[in-house]
Parts: sequence; structure tokens; C-alpha cells
Amino acid sequence: MRILETQNLTREFGGVIAVNDVSFKVEQGLVTGLIGPNGAGKTTLFNQITGMDKPTSGKVIFDGKDITGLPAWKISRLGIARTFQNIRLYKDLTAVENVMLGLHFKVGTDPFRNRFVQAIKSYMFANSENMDMYGMAMEWLAFFDISNSAQEYARNLPYGTQRELEIARALAAEPKLLFLDEPAAGMNPAETAHLMSVIEKIRSLGVSVVLIEHDMKLVMNICDQITVLNFGMKIAEGTPNSIKSNKDVIEAYLGREEI
Ligand SMILES: Nc1ncnc2c1ncn2[C@@H]1O[C@H](COP(=O)(O)OP(=O)(O)OP(=O)(O)O)[C@@H](O)[C@H]1O
Ligand SMILES: [Mg+2]
Repeated sequence: MRILETQNLTREFGGVIAVNDVSFKVEQGLVTGLIGPNGAGKTTLFNQITGMDKPTSGKVIFDGKDITGLPAWKISRLGIARTFQNIRLYKDLTAVENVMLGLHFKVGTDPFRNRFVQAIKSYMFANSENMDMYGMAMEWLAFFDISNSAQEYARNLPYGTQRELEIARALAAEPKLLFLDEPAAGMNPAETAHLMSVIEKIRSLGVSVVLIEHDMKLVMNICDQITVLNFGMKIAEGTPNSIKSNKDVIEAYLGREEI
């Protein structure tokens, strides 16, 4: 089943066509890779889908519903979560507090309350609901195997743990579809290996994952499907094996990488 597709999506910035007529699809329950050289339009495509920016033309269909141009908060309520290329944690909160903030973005909560304000309030005023949320946040940290870091300030955590904490926070919103923008960037090999096992676990929860990544070992090992962008255009899509041997992809991107 298809959980998401873009139809002829285009985003122009002045004269630059960052995303050019891209029809991208994501199947339910799979890990889909989005790869391509720097500046190929990968993050811009994420931004159009997640409501951080509006496409110039084309459509985004999620779960059978046209979500083109909806604001980010509505899209997150429908069940799409994301992380960013640069780390965006609350550095002066602890790991568990960061995940508790993520819990407030859970799908299906009252659409009319200001969830950010609620999140800050319940952080400030501990109450019984807050204790439940604490327990749930601890569960997510355990899922990521980082419970030992629960009481550390985010700023003091090792780099790889910070990146995983961001994913934990996004996942705490219980999305159907999770977008990760270069989760392994800057990680050492041990951190990358841990991240790979975490992504496998996320897939086993039934959450669909879309992953932008330059680490080809990670991409080729865990993705079920891969889409390749170059200069804003989709140049290939298919299984890791078909992508590895695709002439256009080798020329545009893989030729310069070690696989
Ligand atoms: N807000 C913006 N205004 C103008 N140009 C932009 C904007 N955002 C992106 N671009 C341009 O769009 C193109 C695609 O950028 P994008 O960040 O999507 O690439 P990317 O594939 O994510 O690259 P990387 O692998 O380096 O992260 C680039 O030429 C970039 O300069
Ligand atoms: Mg990018």
C-alpha cells in the first residue's frame, strides 16, 4: 500500500529549480532512501512534504488525502514527523524532557489546543499526567537503548546519542511516516551501526521511514527502496541492487562514493 506520493512536485527559488517535476512514492512499512549529490533537492523535497515550505506546483498525497501546502502543524497531526539535517534539540533540557516534549505532538490529540504551550506548561508544572508522560518518555529512551542518558542535559550527550534522541522525540509523536534528514551525518562507525539497528526496530513497529543519507553502506543495507535525485530531478528509483548498478546513478553520484 502506498502511504505517500508526490505528483509532479516542483519548487522554484527565483531562477533555481530545486525540485523539478518529482513524482516520489513511499510504500507503507518500508524504509525508503532518498539519495543524490549535494544540492540535488533532497531537503527541499522533505520541506515541501512536511509543510515547512510550499511547492510551486504539483501535489502531495498522504494516506489518500491531498495535503499540498498545509501548514506543518496540521501535517504533523495527520501523522508525519521529521528530524532535521542540523541537530535541533532543547539543549538545556534533559534527554527525557526532550522526549516528553515530543509526546505532546502525538497524533489524534485535541486539534484546538496549542500543543507547544501545553508542552511547556506540563514541563513547568509536574502533575500526574506528567508522570505518565515521564514513563512513556522513558519507554522511548529504552527503545533506543539510551535510558542511561535520561537525566543528562542534551548538550552533554555524545553526538550520536543527540542524533538518536532527536529521532526518539520525533517517534514519540507516534507518526505513521518518519522523515530523517541525514541521521548518520558526523557519526562514527559504532554510532552508525547502532543507528542502523534502531532504524530496523522502527520499521518493525510498522512505521514507514524515509531517509536522506550520504552513507551508502547504511543506505544500501537498510533501505527497501531508493529514489535518486540529481539537479532537482528524479533520475532513478528501485531496489538497492538495481540502484547500485544503474548507469545514470553511478555517473551522477555513486561513481564518487565507495559502496
Ligand atoms: N530557501 C532557499 N532559497 C533559495 N535556494 C534554495 C533554498 N533552499 C534550497 N535552495 C537551493 O535548492 C537546491 C537544493 O537544495 P537542498 O538543500 O534541497 O539540497 P540537498 O539535496 O538537501 O543537499 P545536501 O545533500 O547538501 O543537504 C540548492 O541549489 C539550494 O541552494
Ligand atoms: Mg539536505
